[in-house]
Amino acid sequence: MPNIVVVGTQWGDEGKGKVVDVLSRHVDAVVRFQGGNNAGHTLVVNGEQMVLHLLPSGILRDNCVCVVGNGVVVDPRVMLEEIEELAGRGRQIGPDQLVLSARAHVILPYHLALDRLREEARGDARIGTTCRGIGPTYEDKAARRGIVVGDLLDASRLRARLEAIVPDKNRMIVGWFNGEPIDIDDVCETYLALGAQLAPFVGDSVGHLHGIQRRGGSILFEGAQGTFLDVDHGTYPYVTSSNTVAGAACAGSGVGPTAIDEVVGIAKAYTTRVGSGAFPTEDHGELGERLRRVGGEFGATTGRPRRCGWFDVPLVRQAARINGLTRIALTKLDVLSGLDEIPICTGYEGMGDTFPDALDNAVPIYESVPGWKEDMRHCRHMSELPASCLRYVAHLEELIGVPVELVSVGPGRQETIVRGDLFTR
Ligand code: IMP
Repeated sequence: MPNIVVVGTQWGDEGKGKVVDVLSRHVDAVVRFQGGNNAGHTLVVNGEQMVLHLLPSGILRDNCVCVVGNGVVVDPRVMLEEIEELAGRGRQIGPDQLVLSARAHVILPYHLALDRLREEARGDARIGTTCRGIGPTYEDKAARRGIVVGDLLDASRLRARLEAIVPDKNRMIVGWFNGEPIDIDDVCETYLALGAQLAPFVGDSVGHLHGIQRRGGSILFEGAQGTFLDVDHGTYPYVTSSNTVAGAACAGSGVGPTAIDEVVGIAKAYTTRVGSGAFPTEDHGELGERLRRVGGEFGATTGRPRRCGWFDVPLVRQAARINGLTRIALTKLDVLSGLDEIPICTGYEGMGDTFPDALDNAVPIYESVPGWKEDMRHCRHMSELPASCLRYVAHLEELIGVPVELVSVGPGRQETIVRGDLFTR
């Protein structure tokens, strides 16, 4: 099995969790390399739904170790809660199954407070963040005033770091936003206790991953969010605070680019977005509402209704370029069943083959293709798909220029059509 990076090609929520789960059957490690518990990766196994926010989606497999890499921002409480929830479902997670990088940055109470207070202060100009403290934690990382997981294991170091950082945070929280001050003693005590609980999992994630490579094993890099939420390539400033593109897999895990063999882009058969920002193919009418209802398009992390619209070819084609996609997995195709016609955005007015710097003024050019009525959740081979559906997939494939090698026709592990060799190796 090659080393594979999996990324979202739109604005997140493309169904990456399910595809990673399908692929993780064949790998030795699944690594998260960016983001934090702003993600929500939904898995359905044996009819039971589980949403993971921080742990890699391979955590339900016995064959692989899960790694939370240095590029992730970690809320220790959330990680421990997920470990506990799994235990409650009969899956005990030990250090053999989970390695947490000592270099990953920690989300602290002042990050959570500032994320929320700033969003409130922005009013109508809010980004619509998940309020999980992601942005403020990455800010501190870049400003060299972050606290890393390793600091939670060293009482005097943690206290010294907090004493250097917290007064400044309180000036902001109290002085600017009239919020509640952060108490250093409280934070120190609480986070040392959380660190002690996480300690068995904390380790040298880079050494671990290189060990797997040396033994000829394979690694799956699990991206979170999507290409157009990337802080460099997304619809800035309505983006998340990390690099979500495939290139980030290397920096966020400590594995070099020469080790990456395949990059799989996950594309939903239509488009959704949570939070503010440009969305050229958004459908504000009845059909958009239908996509939301049938697709269950409500945020896995915040429960917010997702904005819904049509497949945007220029967007996914741009994602194919930026990420160097070698394959595409097309998800939630079943949600489109029952439509008479399906609009596809094939370009933006006046843009030709170029991609605009900002999408705010992009006016989609639509082509309508015939829809299909049949329920397709039972289909396991491409040949079983309705003819119009096959044409829809072939058309997207041709327009994007990357082969579609997996098609998802329902939320369950089994409700998947595998086409290429990558998913069966
Ligand atoms: P943040 O990552 O919480 O700072 O939120 C920044 C933007 O990214 C907001 O528009 C969020 O709705 C969006 N976002 C963050 N994580 C996800 C995700 O996993 N799926 C979809 N949107 C996300």
